Amino acid sequence: MGGYAVSTILTLVSATYVLALTPAIEPTPLASLHFNSPADLPYQVEPSPVLRGSQFGYNICNSTTQNQQSLCQTMYVNHLDDFCLWGPDKPNSKIQDTEGEEVAWCTSNKYGTRQIPGGALQGAQLLRAPDYTLISGFIDQTQVNIQDGDSGGELDPHGQDLAGNPMGGIVFSNAFSGSNTTYQQVPEWNLFIGSGTFCLKICPDNGPAKNSAGFCRNTLDRLGCFYNSPANPQNGTFEACDSANMDLPGVYVANGQTLTYTQPAESSPLGALPYTPTVPASSNCPPFASTALYAALASVSSAPQGSSTPAPSSAASTSGASSRGASTSKPSSSGSANPTTTPANGASAFGVSLAATIAGVVFSVTFLS
Ligand SMILES: *[C@@H]1O[C@H](CO)[C@@H](O)[C@H](O)[C@H]1NC(C)=O
Ligand SMILES: *[C@@H]1O[C@H](CO)[C@@H](O)[C@H](O)[C@H]1NC(C)=O
Ligand SMILES: *[C@@H]1O[C@H](CO)[C@@H](O)[C@H](O)[C@H]1NC(C)=O
Repeated sequence: MGGYAVSTILTLVSATYVLALTPAIEPTPLASLHFNSPADLPYQVEPSPVLRGSQFGYNICNSTTQNQQSLCQTMYVNHLDDFCLWGPDKPNSKIQDTEGEEVAWCTSNKYGTRQIPGGALQGAQLLRAPDYTLISGFIDQTQVNIQDGDSGGELDPHGQDLAGNPMGGIVFSNAFSGSNTTYQQVPEWNLFIGSGTFCLKICPDNGPAKNSAGFCRNTLDRLGCFYNSPANPQNGTFEACDSANMDLPGVYVANGQTLTYTQPAESSPLGALPYTPTVPASSNCPPFASTALYAALASVSSAPQGSSTPAPSSAASTSGASSRGASTSKPSSSGSANPTTTPANGASAFGVSLAATIAGVVFSVTFLS
């Protein structure tokens, strides 16, 4: 009897201990949710993420949510003239403080979202590869509420609790469906945004290689655009190209052996990287005038959007946000993700760590060696 009681207590104690040490993960990981069409979306796909309060916005978006205060978290990546980015709700926000709650900013006014203000996009290149579509470019990030100079980070449908960054963020595309009017959900995607640059990659699950998680790998968040999504966009130029597939992110050949790079823990220095990615061959790149691509945006004001409340106080007033800032400092690395890791914000959009603050070299690797 006594022995039974003691062992029960020990079991309970050890179960509690294990629970306390195991980072809570979402029972329905965002990347595993499948919706056949936007019409199938619930109001919120991740209403109650286990670690981080509740989903900030919503996934049902329509004409009543088509305004510059929209909290729509369903976005579209179709073509150079028709895509969205994730950006903060309030002006002057940092990505690392708001990654769990970004909202959709689009070139179109038909998705029930905010619109990217006219002139914010300064250059963009679309690479249409067999297994992914990648849009890289230059942006006045203050016009989508990102603080001037913020080196930003990676957003993707994972995060340490698997509810995504933003939590509940859903992406649709017509780029792989064979019809401009058929939108298919893209379960794997990532967006690096910061330092006036961005790269947005979508990986459909019906690509020929059937490797959406590989092409949209989410565990190299400290390496930025060039290592995750190699491309060579030019500031001031808008073009859409056919492209070969990139090598899988992090996979490289050394001394005849194929190796896979693993990013060190956030607490360790990145050190020298053992390889340099190759920009895949591209062709058939007609240039466009931004005025032709984004004519509808000309009338969208670049005045600060959202409420006039500064970002930090707004974040503090959001349920669960006080822990959100720190706990999400490591946007997307899964595996060893530790919710208590001190914010390091090593993830800058195009470079490694702080190197991306050097303007003009964001897409190159000059500073890596
Ligand atoms: C429009 O979207 C809002 C916000 O998600 C939702 O509450 C409302 O029910 C939607 N309206 C229709 C007609 O679907
Ligand atoms: C599909 O969309 C693309 C880009 O938005 C456009 O160039 C093309 O003409 C469209 N195709 C059809 C059949 O409407
Ligand atoms: C891109 O060009 C614009 C306009 O010249 C400039 O203001 C911006 O700083 C450039 N962006 C980067 C990252 O160099």
